[in-house]
Formats: sequence, C-alpha cells, structure tokens
Amino acid sequence: MKIVIVVFSPGGHTKKVAEIIKESMEKKSVAVEIIDTTGKAIFDNSRSIQAYLKSVIPPHDILMVGAPVYAHHFHYNVLSIIDALPSPGNGWGKFSIPFVTYGTINSGISLYEAGNHLNKTGRKNIFALKIDSFHVMSRFLSTTINEGKPGKEIEPLMNELADKIISLDISQADKIIDILPKLNYQKLTCKIKANTIFREKFFQDRIYPQLSFNKEKCVCCQKCIKKCPVQRLLLAEDGLDILKGNPACIHCGECIHACEFSALDFKTDEASKAKWNKVFNQAIKGKGILPSNEFPKTVLYY
Ligand SMILES: Cc1cc2nc3c(=O)[nH]c(=O)nc-3n(C[C@H](O)[C@H](O)[C@H](O)COP(=O)(O)O)c2cc1C
Ligand code: SF4
Ligand code: SF4
Repeated sequence: MKIVIVVFSPGGHTKKVAEIIKESMEKKSVAVEIIDTTGKAIFDNSRSIQAYLKSVIPPHDILMVGAPVYAHHFHYNVLSIIDALPSPGNGWGKFSIPFVTYGTINSGISLYEAGNHLNKTGRKNIFALKIDSFHVMSRFLSTTINEGKPGKEIEPLMNELADKIISLDISQADKIIDILPKLNYQKLTCKIKANTIFREKFFQDRIYPQLSFNKEKCVCCQKCIKKCPVQRLLLAEDGLDILKGNPACIHCGECIHACEFSALDFKTDEASKAKWNKVFNQAIKGKGILPSNEFPKTVLYY
C-alpha cells in the first residue's frame, strides 16, 4: 500500500502531523510520501496547481490532504489544490483522508468542506482527522495557546489510524463507506458564522490586519522572504516589496515571526490589540464571541 500526503503548512504544525503519520505508517511497513506545497509558486491559478500536482504526486492508494483551519474554513489554498486534483485512475487510488490542525478555538466547517471537495473529484473519504494545535495567531497576543502541540500526545491516535488503514480491504472499494456525513458535526450557528462573517474574502479585506514594513529596521536578511508560504515578499531597492494581487497574502504572520529586527508587523492599534486579547482569552475559557467548545478536540473520524 502507498499513501501520499499533500500538505500546506505556513507555520509547520500541519506538516508535523503529516510527519507523525508517516512515522506511524512506516513502522507498519506502509510507504508514505509527503508533498509539501508550502511556499511553492503554484497558487496563482488552477492550471499551475494541476501541472504541479501531476508532476509530483506518484501512484498511490490513498491520498491524504492536510491544511490549517483559517477562519473556520479548510485553508482555501488547499481547497484549490483539491479542486485541481485529476480524477482517480492511472495508478491514483480513489480513497482520501482530509485532516486539519486548528488552534483550539474552532475547527469550523473545515473537514466537511474538504470532504465535499474531495468527493467532487471522485474520491471517497475513508477517515478524517482534526488535531488540536498551537494557535499561530496567539504568538502576537498576550497569551499563547497550546504551545508545543501537536506532539507526542497524538502518536497513539496516529497508530490507531495506521492500524485502521492496514486492516482496510481496498480491493473492495464499493463496500467501503464514505464518512462525509460524520464530518458535518457543527451546529447550525457555527455553520452560519462560517458562511457569513468568517468568509475569507471579508476577513482578508476587513478583519485581518494588513502588514506594515519599517525600512529603517530592515537589514535585508531575507528570512521573511524564505518563510512566506505564498511568495508575497520580494527584496526591492528600498527594502521589501509586499506584493499585491494573486495569490493574496494569507495573513499567516510567518514573516513577522521570522524577522529578528521587528521590521515587519501587523498594522494595528492598542485598542484592537486589547480587543483581540480579550476575545482569545475568553475563547479559551469557552466564552465570548468565539467560544472554544469542541470536545474532544482531537478526533479521528471513521
Ligand atoms: C489567519 C488565521 C486564522 C485562523 N483561524 C483559526 C480558526 O478559525 N480556528 C482555530 O481554531 N484556529 C485558527 N487558526 C490557527 C491555526 O489553524 C493553527 O495555528 C494551525 O495549527 C496552523 O497550522 P500551520 O502551522 O500548519 O500553519 C488561525 C490561524 C491564522 C493565522
Ligand atoms: S506576506 Fe507574511 S503574512 Fe502575508 S502570506 Fe507572506 S508570510 Fe504570511
Ligand atoms: S526578515 Fe526582517 S530584516 Fe530580514 S529582510 Fe525581512 S524585514 Fe528585513
């Protein structure tokens, strides 16, 4: 059996899950290949994504697709990857396993939409995973959330996944049931939120803070450029260019985190910082406008 894991992981946490899965599977003699799409210059249109996928994905039985949750959604770059997937056939199997990492606040409709998109490519979702993870945005807040996760705590679950995969009889494809209905686990209020205020375009334009660049502090080390998962930063004569257009900056904050000279930051003011600190501090207590109330937080769906 061969498994391919396609992953997009600006902060590295979703990739870490992919690596733990690979380790668990390989201990049981199942071959796994990870295709990391982070930082690849493919996200400007579906043709470049498809050409890339065709060139890097080897024949396989099961395709796993992993993304971080952004604003209650499966990251839209990875939905674009799924949409660009060629149909199963020619050595590409018809089974899929979507998985997400999320920063404990809310996994939203991420797994359900990933499962739906995979279905549309002719694939059957046999398992799915949501993994409680460090909240990368909390690096910019007063309290970090879930520092150190995911790590060893998910190994038993990954071993369980490996055992379940091994015991599947993939030659009996028609008898294997799609688990998509199980991924429709959110309450109506959460779904409405995800489809109204948490729409990515709205968030991108109105809610996520834009980047600010301080030329005086920049030493042109290019660390931020190397970290940008969608290649939005370029070294220019007078410092750094933050590129507009397609693909858009995804507001992951990786460039800010990478800069040791504080030359990059989110454009924000003390009042908004205080507001978001309050929202997140309440959220982890299960209160406020973004209550973190999914239990258990790490789940293998089957
Ligand atoms: C812009 C943005 C939006 C996010 N939205 C959510 C969210 O709605 N719910 C949540 O629990 N975590 C959210 N997170 C946290 C990430 O899902 C989490 O940190 C994830 O593990 C990051 O994965 P990565 O390190 O592979 O990029 C968000 C993070 C960012 C940067
Ligand atoms: S420019 Fe910065 S915040 Fe925007 S996508 Fe790149 S690394 Fe993330
Ligand atoms: S990491 Fe900071 S100092 Fe280095 S190029 Fe980027 S903005 Fe400039």
